[in-house]
Amino acid sequence: MQNRSAILLVGGRGTRLAPLTNNTPKPMLQVAGVPFTEHQIIKARDAGISEIVLATSFKAELFEPYFGDGTDFGISIKYAVEEVALGTGGAISNAAQALSGTGPVAIFNGDVLSGHDLGAQFDFHEAKGADVTLFLTEVEDARAFGAVELDESGRVSAFNEKMENPPTNIINAGCYIFNREIISTIPFGKVVSVERETFPNLLATGARVFGFIDTSYWLDIGTPSALLKASRDLVLATGKEFMALEGSKISSSASITGGTVIGRSAQIAADAQISGCVIGDGAVIGAGARLTDCFVAEGFEVPTQVISFDNYFGF
Ligand code: GDD
Ligand code: MG
Repeated sequence: MQNRSAILLVGGRGTRLAPLTNNTPKPMLQVAGVPFTEHQIIKARDAGISEIVLATSFKAELFEPYFGDGTDFGISIKYAVEEVALGTGGAISNAAQALSGTGPVAIFNGDVLSGHDLGAQFDFHEAKGADVTLFLTEVEDARAFGAVELDESGRVSAFNEKMENPPTNIINAGCYIFNREIISTIPFGKVVSVERETFPNLLATGARVFGFIDTSYWLDIGTPSALLKASRDLVLATGKEFMALEGSKISSSASITGGTVIGRSAQIAADAQISGCVIGDGAVIGAGARLTDCFVAEGFEVPTQVISFDNYFGF
């Protein structure tokens, strides 16, 4: 078997997540106690991928101090920084320069939490003799996504990025496998959208683009409510109501539920009721406060008795 490599697209601005992304790029926001990107890196490693290039741009300098060369995560990690964001296609072409080996490359959108079987996607790609294989899922409303049309053999016949009246509910779920020769057809050093330019071009020139449908857990964390949901779902999946990180102090009369994360050295005072929240490192929640589905920034102090729903504190 050839080596399996990956590129992680983590250079977007994360505009829809403001104010959370004012100082932190979306992929470095904490989800279930670690930067979101870490969940994807572990997923890639567990599928047998040996090297991954992070394609960064916005706040690029914040990734390397945390992930380093990947030793701590059991995978080789390199960085390809775009001084000016190159779009998803330009980022792929740029990051591919840093890859070694010759095998197929998995390319991930940096904001998707998914339970899909990546190993099975690689096997499917090889079995079909595909040039590109797109992981697809089904949603109720495809307007915010790339709607993908397939023929009976599973071959992609049309790719419609963010369309008002999508012809199908099958969408691009943000994880592709590309053969190297196909990556080298993407213009280098130019702004290119893989969704709006590369995929339509490949289809027009008869490339073998296939769709791999997997309808397991899937979530784009690009909005605050989705980010919270991702964190809650991961915590609840451990069978616990909350996750308390190192050094946190929680009063025995506080109630913490709904997949809440209590940050490192955070303090929760008596009778506080916290459900479905992300409480930042070192934050303090005053006595009797009742928070539901809220983000509390690092070090922020929420006064006693505050009642709040769906809110941000300290961003
Ligand atoms: N390096 C780099 N450079 N990364 C980028 C750039 C860039 O210029 N632009 C976007 N990205 C990264 C983002 O950080 C994100 O991880 C990923 O590419 C996708 O960008 P989004 O901005 O999140 O796109 P989207 O959610 O609107 O749509 C995309 O994802 C959907 C699934 O969630 C498309 O791929 C859709 O077709 C797809 O359905
Ligand atoms: Mg997105």
